[in-house]
Amino acid sequence: MSRQLRSSWGSRLGFILAASGSAIGLGNIVFFSARAYEYGGGAFYLPYLVALAIVGLPVLIVELGLGRARGGAFPHALGSIAGRAGEFQGWWAILNALTITMYYITLLGWVTGMGWRALTGSLFEPSVAVDGFGLDAGALPNPTASFFDLISDWGVLAAVLVVWTINIVLVSRGTQGIEGAVRWLMPLLWVCMGGLAIIGFTLPAGTDGMWLLLTPQFDAITSPVVWNGAFAQIFFTLSLGFGVMTAYASYLPKRSDDVANAAAVAGLNCLFELVAGLAVFSLLASFALPPKASTLAMMFFIVPAGIAELPVGVPLIGCLFFTLLLVAGLTSSVSLLEAAISALIDKFAWSRRRAVMTVCAFGITGSTLFALPVVIDSQLSQTGTLGLTLLDFIDHYANGYGLILVGIGECIIVGWFMPAATLRKVVNEHSRLKLGPWFDVLIRWVIPALLMVSVGSAIREELVRGTIYGTSDVWSGIYAWLPVVCLLVWFAGTMGFAGLLTLWRPRAAALQSSGGEA
Ligand code: TRP
Repeated sequence: MSRQLRSSWGSRLGFILAASGSAIGLGNIVFFSARAYEYGGGAFYLPYLVALAIVGLPVLIVELGLGRARGGAFPHALGSIAGRAGEFQGWWAILNALTITMYYITLLGWVTGMGWRALTGSLFEPSVAVDGFGLDAGALPNPTASFFDLISDWGVLAAVLVVWTINIVLVSRGTQGIEGAVRWLMPLLWVCMGGLAIIGFTLPAGTDGMWLLLTPQFDAITSPVVWNGAFAQIFFTLSLGFGVMTAYASYLPKRSDDVANAAAVAGLNCLFELVAGLAVFSLLASFALPPKASTLAMMFFIVPAGIAELPVGVPLIGCLFFTLLLVAGLTSSVSLLEAAISALIDKFAWSRRRAVMTVCAFGITGSTLFALPVVIDSQLSQTGTLGLTLLDFIDHYANGYGLILVGIGECIIVGWFMPAATLRKVVNEHSRLKLGPWFDVLIRWVIPALLMVSVGSAIREELVRGTIYGTSDVWSGIYAWLPVVCLLVWFAGTMGFAGLLTLWRPRAAALQSSGGEA
């Protein structure tokens, strides 16, 4: 009975479009640019490429190989190797990724709101007053004021719900719905991005910005912070540690070539990231070189401020930018929903409808929390609303540590329990380019060691700083206790829930998991 429940891709192209759609997201357009800018452009690109070759591609091959060969989602695939410990690791990965999806969709809600303001032109008019923050008209550049106005208004929850509704529609028909959507969304995305890059290229100082990204600087290579940033970026951008690639590969025919698939997905993703980076850097160099650029500032303040300075077509190009973000984000968020849904179907033999409703009920609740428009710091010394501050805080742990921890766990499970040589044999059976024994060394030793050093040095830095991230100045008064409680609730909650899902023995299991061969 298990087999009929699992769908499959209509074609290999459909899979490549969907998997690259998952990989190409906000991470490619703004997270990459913000990180690269922070570390000095060319200083980041070299560690990034090294991280791609040594960690990104091998882990992508592992996640794809697992899904295809074991024919199930992340908890099932890891459970079939290492029993309950493996299954637990798979569920925790899904829950960690679901947390990320919750605020990712909140971000997309804000993108939708800003896009609407770009379309109606109000984004580029003289700056508005923002009551919630006590800001007079003209106090801030307009895209910035407009953003604070948006996130401090309850109406923003409607935008978040719109994005959730689109997600539900796309995911409710499974691979068919996703494949149907990516067939036209992905080409659209490439055309829009190419258009923006061409506009950037023709700007007065545009090519200077591009060279800033492409000129290597070797002095930053000794900085562990830059390497941390490169590993984190590669994991997020390739959708690794989410369980997404395993779920998507589980819908492939057994004969599929994992190495070729990994190369295609990583190649498309990193090419897109390069084009997006060039476009953003050209805008920055032409109009708005800021001293520092966080992801949010990049997405909502800096790039829109640059677009506002263009000689022609400002509303249109503003709209293009936010549409680009929304489409790129949707094809990513839908992939995690599918990963969670397929994991539930595998384990509990639920109908798709029931699995969709369960995942989305949790997701919508979380996204609403992250969108809460209650202003907590009217002095604007930090970020703004309760939702945004929570978002920043949870992102720090779920994205900054969670994905890398999952990466370490999966490499240990596959490397030592499967072990790596077995996976390599399974992959090589159908791949044209054969993996050598070096692959085992990477998975068993090199990648876990690199990631552990990366996480270790990040933790050390936090300890040196002496405060738990985010507890310092924003959270005062009645909110003083919130961050620690949130962190504990999130950590204990995801761990406990993952444990529960692992130990739960459904009466009618769809796919045999723990210990069994798939
Ligand atoms: N790779 C995506 C990006 O670069 C991130 C991503 C993939 C993601 N799947 C996701 C984020 C699911 C949230 C939910 O943006």
